[in-house]
Amino acid sequence: MTLKTTLLASAIAFAPIAAFAEMTIGFSQIGSESGWRAAETTVTKQEAAARGIDLKFADAQQKQENQIKAIRSFIAQGVDAILVAPVVATGWDEVLEEAKDAEIPVVLLDRTVDADKALYLTAVTSDLVHEGNVAGQWLVDEMAGADCRIVELQGTTGSSPAIDRKTGFEQAIADHPNLQIVRSQTGDFTRSQGKVVMESFLKAEGGENICALYAHNDDMAVGAIQAIKEAGLKPGEDIKIVAIDAVPDAHLAIANGEMNATIELTPNMAGPALDALEAYLASGTEPAKWIQTESKLFTAADDNQAIYDMKKDLGY
Ligand code: AHR
Repeated sequence: MTLKTTLLASAIAFAPIAAFAEMTIGFSQIGSESGWRAAETTVTKQEAAARGIDLKFADAQQKQENQIKAIRSFIAQGVDAILVAPVVATGWDEVLEEAKDAEIPVVLLDRTVDADKALYLTAVTSDLVHEGNVAGQWLVDEMAGADCRIVELQGTTGSSPAIDRKTGFEQAIADHPNLQIVRSQTGDFTRSQGKVVMESFLKAEGGENICALYAHNDDMAVGAIQAIKEAGLKPGEDIKIVAIDAVPDAHLAIANGEMNATIELTPNMAGPALDALEAYLASGTEPAKWIQTESKLFTAADDNQAIYDMKKDLGY
């Protein structure tokens, strides 16, 4: 019996703790493109298990059509709620309408969509524009007016982090004509594509003509570091590198002087999401439409070796 059925059937005595233990939640995850994504999956499973929630997990392998199928299957199964990390920002209206018609609340994890906000309960995400802004501001400060030709590795085309992190970075450097983005291409948030695209940047521009790399996530930066080394250059010195996520390997790269800065994105989106869902299902408490997670800048000034040691077994 799902939680919704339990609540409807029991008008007499209301025991929320016991009821939560019976909650069934469907989770449509994007895939496993990055270390951060792996950690989010791990944490979500742990958070659900700790609350006694039956989590139905579906890996979409980077395809929106698979996510839509999974959501429809969760609706057909009559789950109590749905978590979805949407691979791209557009194309969700119809399936979200279907969930709404079935009175199943949907919570967005880590990425936003451009659908009507009434179609989902809340979105748990960082301020993705702000992350790009922090990265850009770090480079503004680092260059202190010196000329710098920048290459950019974008995340998955059409995803909200790729769109917003680009916007935020461009805003931060807009009033600094010494900083110029000379190449920008998607690396799909993966290490392998980060390396391949960085190789093409190095070939097209000549390594000596690239001053900095801005990558929309750490995995692409780590792939790019390999490409830079293979080109006979020193990552972190010859080419400054700033990225986003703060995965363990990025901390290690900063500790080793091969990367300069990363902005932390917590993989624990599920904690706030499940808190909101539990309150909503227990008493109808409507959460804010946006539950914002924190972003924190890490640079060589931090003890990155210690942070790496602390994070390395956390499921990244
Ligand atoms: O949506 C969050 C982004 O998706 C992370 O920054 C990236 O690593 C992931 O794949």
